[in-house]
Amino acid sequence: MFIDKEKCKRCGACFSECPYDLIVEDAEGFPKLRLAARKTCIACGHCVAVCSTGAITLPEMPVARSLAPAQCLPLLKDLRLTPEQADQFLRSRRSIRSYKDKLVPEEVVVQLLEIASFAPSAKNGQPARWIVTRTPEATSRLAELTVEFMAINNVFPGVIKNWEKGIDKILHGAPHVAVAHAPEDGFNPAEDCSLAAAYLELAAHAHGLGACWAGFLMEAAEGYHPIRELLGLPEGHGVHAALMFGYPRFRFGRIPPRRGVEVTWLS
Ligand SMILES: Cc1cc2nc3c(=O)[nH]c(=O)nc-3n(C[C@H](O)[C@H](O)[C@H](O)COP(=O)(O)O)c2cc1C
Repeated sequence: MFIDKEKCKRCGACFSECPYDLIVEDAEGFPKLRLAARKTCIACGHCVAVCSTGAITLPEMPVARSLAPAQCLPLLKDLRLTPEQADQFLRSRRSIRSYKDKLVPEEVVVQLLEIASFAPSAKNGQPARWIVTRTPEATSRLAELTVEFMAINNVFPGVIKNWEKGIDKILHGAPHVAVAHAPEDGFNPAEDCSLAAAYLELAAHAHGLGACWAGFLMEAAEGYHPIRELLGLPEGHGVHAALMFGYPRFRFGRIPPRRGVEVTWLS
């Protein structure tokens, strides 16, 4: 069943929100799923989630699993952020480079990754897969291999020198690192993984954790086989984002300014 005619108000929200125009009106003005949905539906769930009366249930299709209103989390009014709260939250996320000597419980990591899966992705492909280090030793081994890569390629001598002195400028002594990878032949693997990582960073911030993009590791993972081997990257997958994370040692009480907006308006 796609539509419960007793519940449907014929408001048109499902027609308007379907990204591929897969819902049309029947003779009575009720929504009807086009046959093309069997091949084209991207299972974004918009039609089910936007319906204010819970009248729509997506049927099982070759391209998408069935989806009922009860499977969509209801939005709780009490949890709505004011614009001021949202502004401060977003502005106060910082790249964290000093970490406590404390592991993040695995269930917390899973909860954060779950939130990251709500990031937008091309065609709702959600291609990001994660590799997460469980221990500081595993994290440090990745930093060490990154230094090895730098030494072989004769780049970042300062970072190498610091490492030799016991100072980790690669993963900053973080207890964990999360690496996002995806099939290279997807639509937009780099954008999709980056957005998932951006969500992860914000989710970490919301949960009192800190994170920082691990650009050096990302670069090394691209071409240095020992890192790819240690990560156990599937064939054809590329590393498109990496974040070190843990509990921050310091709290930022102020928000540093940014360059400001540069915009060109067109009319
Ligand atoms: C793609 C990317 C790669 C980055 N790589 C590193 C890195 O390797 N090491 C690091 O300490 N910070 C890294 N950063 C963090 C930036 O330095 C940081 O976002 C910037 O200085 C602004 O600070 P904020 O994030 O606290 O606002 C990276 C950020 C991005 C987006």
